Amino acid sequence: MKILIACFSQTGNTEQIARAVQQELSGDHQVDLEKIEEVDAAGLASYELVFVDDSLSGRTLNGRRVLSYDEFRLRDAPSRAICIAISDSRTRQRLAERCENEGVPCFSVSAENVCILDDVQIGEGAFLAPFVTLTSNIRIGRHFHANLYSYVEHDCVIGDFVTFAPAVHCNGNVVIDDHAYLGSGCILRQGRPGEPLTVGRSAIVGMGAVVTESVPPGATVVGNPARPLK
Ligand SMILES: CC(C)(COP(=O)(O)OP(=O)(O)OC[C@H]1O[C@@H](n2cnc3c(N)ncnc32)[C@H](O)[C@@H]1OP(=O)(O)O)[C@@H](O)C(=O)NCCC(=O)NCCS
Repeated sequence: MKILIACFSQTGNTEQIARAVQQELSGDHQVDLEKIEEVDAAGLASYELVFVDDSLSGRTLNGRRVLSYDEFRLRDAPSRAICIAISDSRTRQRLAERCENEGVPCFSVSAENVCILDDVQIGEGAFLAPFVTLTSNIRIGRHFHANLYSYVEHDCVIGDFVTFAPAVHCNGNVVIDDHAYLGSGCILRQGRPGEPLTVGRSAIVGMGAVVTESVPPGATVVGNPARPLK
């Protein structure tokens, strides 16, 4: 019988996700798979990787089967675990809570070429896409999602369910609150020690924005320099 490893995903990036998950499962990288390994002490040779998407159940994507969440949950398997690679943070939280309530462990995925330097702490359920860099003295909460080529510089604090689109430049001494969304290619000016630049809870930074001042909670900012979207 196979252990079922699944990935909640959106169709656009399934190939990237499959590759990252595959690398994680076959490599020696840090990944929260202890619960699975407890079940299968011989290793992970007998796992099956599927995608979970209620609207695409029964299809095949990039050579992998797609199951609905209920098919995934009820399917006969000695153990199962899931990676939530969905950029919408509220959906991510809803699914994380559902998995937690139903005893399905969430695991973190980090692409093989992710670069992590010194004293970086990341909560459970992270998804780190290829070419992500996290430098030093960084604290990151649960279910962080960092898309291709994003970086986090030194001394940053990032909350829970924060989302980085591709190529987010998060410079040093920045604090980002829960559920903030940072659009593709945005640049956050560095803060100062004890005086960080902050991005408030549920704030949105538009693609390409150059953020020179703190962003209030719930605000959407765009442009260079970034200003509230009216
Ligand atoms: C900022 C953002 C959230 C606004 O979305 P929205 O509320 O749907 O806004 P609209 O598309 O209706 O645009 C409203 C106005 O803002 C402008 N605008 C939208 N995004 C902008 C941006 N990033 N920079 C500058 N102007 C922007 C639009 O041109 C429009 O201007 P107009 O009123 O003069 O025509 C969105 O445009 C964005 O940047 N999202 C991030 C996308 C991304 O990075 N995706 C990665 C996927 S992996």
